[in-house]
Amino acid sequence: MKTAVSQSGIAELVRAGLSRKAKALPPWLFYDAAGSELFERITQLEAYYLTRKERQILLQHSGAIVDACVPETQWQVFELGAGSARKTAHLLRTALERQRCVEYHPLDISLDAMQNAVEYLAQELPAVKVCPEVTDYTQTQPRLPASDAGARKALLWMGSSLGNYEEAEAVAVLRRASAHFRAGDVLLLGVDLHPSEGSKQKQDLILAYDDAEGVTAAFNRNLLLRLNRELGADFRADQFEHRADWNEAAGRMEMHLVSRIRQRVYLAELEESFLFQAGESIHTESSYKPTVPQVQELLQQAGFPFVTAWMDPQRWFGVFLGRRCSRPADDPTSMQQ
Ligand code: AVJ
Repeated sequence: MKTAVSQSGIAELVRAGLSRKAKALPPWLFYDAAGSELFERITQLEAYYLTRKERQILLQHSGAIVDACVPETQWQVFELGAGSARKTAHLLRTALERQRCVEYHPLDISLDAMQNAVEYLAQELPAVKVCPEVTDYTQTQPRLPASDAGARKALLWMGSSLGNYEEAEAVAVLRRASAHFRAGDVLLLGVDLHPSEGSKQKQDLILAYDDAEGVTAAFNRNLLLRLNRELGADFRADQFEHRADWNEAAGRMEMHLVSRIRQRVYLAELEESFLFQAGESIHTESSYKPTVPQVQELLQQAGFPFVTAWMDPQRWFGVFLGRRCSRPADDPTSMQQ
């Protein structure tokens, strides 16, 4: 599987992550071909409410969302971590129905997911001009389209993907990706909200990240199988337990792989072995669940002051819209207000 990060780059990241006192690996490593497929299955689980809630919001409000995003005729949509692009297709379809000329720039680290998205859109929405980019979107700026003049831009970061990042990192990602945006351009964020915002219980969160069918556990363990495949590691995945915790103090879900026994794992590519104590964990993912004020603050920091939000009736999930009024990168003082 080809990704935007080289094998040697991955090897060094893994060395660093497993050498730490508190072992940790970056969550984007989940998404090789097998992991992307497992993630698609997660999004179809009853327990994983995030995708369903977001889709319902986008379906129900697509007209209002598109009208708020693009009053003009030309629309350029840039999406970070577009994946299979199924949910975004609702917005693109609505924009076409409103006679907008739509250019869609999906960015994703997974080539497999990107090919899937391109095929689907060619079938379903052939009028959309699709310009895919396989890239680590945290490190790069989207390529600028050649014919840029007059088009209204939107940056999309859906599916609560921002939850994988610390606030400062998320702001940096958004600022870099929107460096060429102008006044009037918009940012649309899909956010799984903090339980204090609505009726969501801690148990709903736990079940979403530790489903009864074990799909999320398989998704988590696939990380080890990937290291076996790509770095010649000898992880015994069944000797690591999948654990999902709600970290109340940090306001985030955490996924861990906990070693059931004291064991040593060898990584051929690194020519190095790593010792795991019984009960020692690899922290594989954080998924922050921000409050509404925290999302508004993030929008402000990213240079897209809050305009409006659409939520499900239980306030579990929100789609937030911010709009740029000046160029924040050049004018940091305008963001302190
Ligand atoms: C794609 C990062 C939003 O954090 O909920 C799903 C990934 N992890 N089940 C999330 C995920 C466990 C997902 N994001």
